[in-house]
Amino acid sequence: MKCLTVAGLFAVLLAGPAPAEPAPESFATVHTEPSTPTVLITGSNRGIGFEFVRQFAARGWRIIATTRRPDRADDLIELAKSNPDIVIERLDVTDHAGIDELAARYADRPIDILLLNAALGPAPATAMAQLETLDFELAQRHFAVNAIGPMKVSQAFYANVKASDRKQIIAMSSDSGSFVAGSQAPILFHYKASKAALNMYLHTLAFAAQKRDVTVVMLHPGLVGTNPRLAKFPGALKTEDSVRQLMTVIDGLTSEDNGRFIRYTGETMPW
Ligand SMILES: NC(=O)c1ccc[n+]([C@@H]2O[C@H](COP(=O)([O-])OP(=O)(O)OC[C@H]3O[C@@H](n4cnc5c(N)ncnc54)[C@H](OP(=O)(O)O)[C@@H]3O)[C@@H](O)[C@H]2O)c1
Repeated sequence: MKCLTVAGLFAVLLAGPAPAEPAPESFATVHTEPSTPTVLITGSNRGIGFEFVRQFAARGWRIIATTRRPDRADDLIELAKSNPDIVIERLDVTDHAGIDELAARYADRPIDILLLNAALGPAPATAMAQLETLDFELAQRHFAVNAIGPMKVSQAFYANVKASDRKQIIAMSSDSGSFVAGSQAPILFHYKASKAALNMYLHTLAFAAQKRDVTVVMLHPGLVGTNPRLAKFPGALKTEDSVRQLMTVIDGLTSEDNGRFIRYTGETMPW
């Protein structure tokens, strides 16, 4: 992609928080291999996020598995019991002070992949809402979690990504955020708009990132049966199958992919 930006425009955007405390000791002490890569995953307690934890763990990565409620993350806690490379941290992507606090604690930790997975999905009760019944408080929550949250996490952990070997920021987007590939029906107003906003935020970040050797991509995981309702859709993918294919896409990423929106099968998604 071409760089069209004025350097100063991104200075504020890319400024990371100052270090406050050293990174947690438990994490720093478990490793012998300094080159072991690290991934930070948001929304890692269930669904696609949890499956990413499982598959990165199987590869021997260090994982900063974040969730907004660590005390209720039973599957994650169970998995971490047998894997000291998984550290569970509290992170609500709408809590900007909390994000900065966590970033300050990890200030000296390179993060190879920042995996922006957390999202507020379209709830069945509101998904079909029409013009007359749109709930704009809900709209604000969708934008806060699905678009502004990932952008804030990118800002806070940008320096960690830049300091790593892989230098990748990867967002779980959706075909719902595409003007072309998404549903053409008047449904899912807030979810679709928030994913389109996510795409534009990260596509814009990609212009700045390429100058700093960081690669930013957005992925569409397919229709994935992460809950019983989604699993009933014809053709719904099993979560492990979607993530396995996403891992293959991630394995193949190069700096040439900066700014791309990519389907789980590897094809470029239309905006
Ligand atoms: N499943 C699909 O068919 C599909 C299709 C296209 C795109 N995607 C995208 O893929 C990603 C994962 O999908 P999924 O089906 O696994 O979603 P999911 O099962 O609904 O899980 C969403 C995750 O995000 C977390 N989350 C929600 N609000 C948060 C907040 N404020 N701060 C931090 N975490 C928060 C949830 O935590 P709690 O448990 O605390 O709520 C949960 O861990 C999402 O970005 C989604 O939009 C999914």
